[in-house]
Amino acid sequence: MSSDAVWVLFHLAFFSQCLPSAWAHSAILLPGQLARDSSQSCPAPDPNLYYKPVIGIVSHPGDGASGRLSNATGASYIAASYVKFVEAAGARVVPLIYTEPPEKLLKKLELVNGVLFTGGWAKSGLYFETVTKIFKKILEKNDAGDHFPLFATCLGFELITMIISQDNNILEEFSASNQASTLQFVENANIGESVFQRFPPELLGKMSTDCLVMQNHRYGISPGKLLNNPKLSSFFEILTTCTDEDDKVYVSTVRSRNYPVTGFQWHPEKNAFEWGSPRIPHTEDAIQITQYVANFLVSEARKSLNRPVAQELLDNLIYNYSPTYCGKAGKGYDEVYIFAQA
Ligand SMILES: *[C@@H]1O[C@H](CO)[C@@H](O)[C@H](O)[C@H]1NC(C)=O
Repeated sequence: MSSDAVWVLFHLAFFSQCLPSAWAHSAILLPGQLARDSSQSCPAPDPNLYYKPVIGIVSHPGDGASGRLSNATGASYIAASYVKFVEAAGARVVPLIYTEPPEKLLKKLELVNGVLFTGGWAKSGLYFETVTKIFKKILEKNDAGDHFPLFATCLGFELITMIISQDNNILEEFSASNQASTLQFVENANIGESVFQRFPPELLGKMSTDCLVMQNHRYGISPGKLLNNPKLSSFFEILTTCTDEDDKVYVSTVRSRNYPVTGFQWHPEKNAFEWGSPRIPHTEDAIQITQYVANFLVSEARKSLNRPVAQELLDNLIYNYSPTYCGKAGKGYDEVYIFAQA
């Protein structure tokens, strides 16, 4: 028997197995009939939500691999783990390359339904200016009536802390490099309005006792310093804290009181998608944390009213770029997208 014939037989067998028995036993239905049938059994999804959400991710200076991939001036990168994190929850990514002219970046913001600021180290220069402009635009979009979420991870959270407080020296030093930690939930925190809203209670419980989240930072902010700063305490509600190697407590998760903005000092994307450090938790609980956090970001983005122009979106999706494997070095990120200077 030719392989084509085997293929056809296989598919006949497969489809007759899968077809509802009414189909299998009745005459072949025309496409129109099929559509009518399926619309009867599948209620339409919530028309107020958008099911093709796109998240913009801001690139960070460098190659993400300490020069092993590129030393080019003006090169920037996005660790592929952030892209996978977004994709795993049902959204696509547009890279917001920080060296692009501000007008171009603002146009790209019209193509997305939310933004993610990644981890990294850069806190000044063009990168800081770009992040500041994008952050202000995100608040403007929300003030104008859209629901346009921001996830600010690690450095991203540190940067918006600096921007909101208008104090570039607001951060404090902590010893929390390359370590997994628990999360301590703040009493009476508004969990129901937060990223943790759909976490199973059992998982929330485990997060406070087991080291299920990855930390990798030398800066942060203590709860006291955040609460004593009127700009920060009116913007943020503290959801969780963590303790560093010197028993100093830092803010680890925040939600904005008035905007769909969530800040993480920890790395929700690493558990499922980074392998360079043996400290990254990969248990089933740890992977679920990545998934629940990603689902929350994308569920927020589905509420956005923005409807990107289809062709412009396709021209700007991250699929126009290829990630490079750099995890072979046994450290750092596993894959990165590198962008040449615009
Ligand atoms: C970047 O510079 C470093 C230090 O000079 C060098 O070891 C490395 O090979 C360079 N990387 C590339 C991709 O050329």
